[in-house]
Amino acid sequence: MLTHSPSTHSRARYTAGIKGQAMSANEKFPPPFKTLISEEELQARIAALGAQITEEYQGMGEDLVLIGVLKGSVLFMADLCRHIKLPLSLDFMGIASYGDGMKSSGVVQITSDLSHPIEGKHALIVEDIIDTGLTAHYLFENLKTRKPASVKLCSLLHKPERSEVEVPIDYLGFKVPNKFVVGYGLDIAQKYRNLGFIGYVEE
Ligand code: IMP
Ligand code: MG
Repeated sequence: MLTHSPSTHSRARYTAGIKGQAMSANEKFPPPFKTLISEEELQARIAALGAQITEEYQGMGEDLVLIGVLKGSVLFMADLCRHIKLPLSLDFMGIASYGDGMKSSGVVQITSDLSHPIEGKHALIVEDIIDTGLTAHYLFENLKTRKPASVKLCSLLHKPERSEVEVPIDYLGFKVPNKFVVGYGLDIAQKYRNLGFIGYVEE
């Protein structure tokens, strides 16, 4: 059984906890995660977000670029972009966040940069989750230096209890409790991104 408290909440702890439980291809799939947000709830909310973004960016045409943060946002990005009824382009950034292994430090490195300049374009960051907010904060600051027409943030999930730095989330899917969540792009030790729902490990 995994233990959990705000001070020990971390990817490293959950990764250690789940090792040996369901890491092999021979194990039962999906693993016994509790459902936090079902596939139906996700898809309904994403359709609504796409409609809202379509309305608000209407008239901006080709200048919209969705910037997905690898790898967690990939499933969300794929579904969201199909609900945005505007010409747009897709680009991706790879980010590595360094900490003490237990906690994000806010020291962020770009491991893979955008393939095209965003100068003069409307950039919309697409994230899986805003946890401490440190990654999104770094991204905002970094992208602003590239002279885009605007930078906004769309995140599927937000864990408000964990917030360390205030970041404006312009489009939000769901607020989630202070639990380590998995599925629909989010991983534990790189696994389970391919679940269609958001689950959590029961403590
Ligand atoms: P930050 O703490 O807001 O900088 O979040 C950094 C990154 O940690 C997120 O983009 C996710 O990729 C990952 N992350 C944060 N919380 C969770 C979680 O509950 N499950 C899986 N990944 C998470
Ligand atoms: Mg992420």
